[in-house]
Amino acid sequence: MDYHKINAQDIQAFIDIVGSNQVMADPLLMEPYSHDYTEDLRFMPEVVVKPANTQEISQLLKYCNEQLIPVTPRGAGTGLSGGALPIYGGLVLSTERLNKILQIDERNFQAIVEPGVINEALQNAVKEKGLFYPPDPASKGSCFLGGNIAHSSGGPRAVKYGTTRDYVLNLEMVLPTGEIIMTGANTLKYSTGYNLTHLMVGSEGTLGIVTKIVLRLIPAPKNTLLLLAPFASPEKACEAVNGIFLAGCTPSACEFVEPDGFRLSAALLNMSFEIKENVGAYLLIEVDGNQLEQMMTECETISEVLYTNQALDVLFAETANQKEYFWKLRRGIGEATKHNNVYKEEDTVVPRAELPILFKGVKEIGARYGFRTVCYGHAGDGNLHVNILKDQLSEDFWNNELNKAIVEIFELCKSLNGTISGEHGIGLVQQKYMRVVLDQTNLNLMAGIKKVFDPNGILNPGKVFN
Ligand code: LAC
Ligand code: ZN
Repeated sequence: MDYHKINAQDIQAFIDIVGSNQVMADPLLMEPYSHDYTEDLRFMPEVVVKPANTQEISQLLKYCNEQLIPVTPRGAGTGLSGGALPIYGGLVLSTERLNKILQIDERNFQAIVEPGVINEALQNAVKEKGLFYPPDPASKGSCFLGGNIAHSSGGPRAVKYGTTRDYVLNLEMVLPTGEIIMTGANTLKYSTGYNLTHLMVGSEGTLGIVTKIVLRLIPAPKNTLLLLAPFASPEKACEAVNGIFLAGCTPSACEFVEPDGFRLSAALLNMSFEIKENVGAYLLIEVDGNQLEQMMTECETISEVLYTNQALDVLFAETANQKEYFWKLRRGIGEATKHNNVYKEEDTVVPRAELPILFKGVKEIGARYGFRTVCYGHAGDGNLHVNILKDQLSEDFWNNELNKAIVEIFELCKSLNGTISGEHGIGLVQQKYMRVVLDQTNLNLMAGIKKVFDPNGILNPGKVFN
């Protein structure tokens, strides 16, 4: 694709649309927009533009579509698959100024928000009204809801409450041509032709730019209980996970963490956390609800399952502070790993009962190729984040040989009826593995959809698939 290089006339056109303060072409100012949280990848935009509303986004896209200027939509830049990286330069369209919670409709249990609202800001705002927005990615304190929609982000609570997809009712979006549409209706059910709302969720900014989001809310559970269980054997910890569900319990979080995960996080956050030498893995399990007594009974059942699977101990977080302490440590793992080492992050996911086979397979592949991994993640979803550490591996191995190992990991996921990403998306870095799990027919269908929405290929080009 031959894209148009942005010139002075284009910059003036952008200034005419959004005002001179909202257009940046100085490399120093654009530097923060050249990377996200994905590895150490960097691509410089030609210009960064910060529109204030739907109309401005529409005019920008119309212009770029006519001029063949690539547009990369960007939220908070917390993505882990490189979706917000402007790999062809062009225009980075930041949604940071669309940051308003427009309405919390207590009568209908709905919220209408702009895409630049921070996930946790919405969680807190609805909580004040006794309502609950469950999706809680580790980056909830900084990630934008628009980005959550781009990947259908999950987080620990997805195991009980589902991912972002399960809360999106309707979207206002701007098509690459500049047309503005609503994708559906503000209703809990929708049987009115193809579901464009759900097509947009997970489309990683390749089909349109979301400008308003209608979300479903639920009543907030009143209480949570939190358990931390160390295991000597990580395989046994993985087996315990499915045992919890087979025993009839549905925890609101069921997280697996290898000791290195907590160790790195504690070190980065300067928090104390003692890890005994014989510990091979932890499960962090949350139960929520309104009836404390019933929740206690559920925790007892869970404890029994954990001990049956050789848990070394089952610790209860006693206070709200202690719960937050454990969660803070858990949320810090991703960033701590990145801080500690060059790494690649794989977002493997399999049906829950297959988690022990996945974990064992990942370690076996690592041992065979000679690399170390830190594994952690949403075990109750069968979603294991596999962080491959570079350590002393050669550049040649890291850039070439390692791909074969990653393909093996993903082939294992496929053989277990799983896939290559549960919540981090495909973006730039995972697209070369799409063929491991998808047939050419599937890819052709996706390419056809892309062509219908974005005939000139200007919107987030080079992402998801080529
Ligand atoms: C987490 C992010 C990396 O689970 O998805 O910490
Ligand atoms: Zn995660």
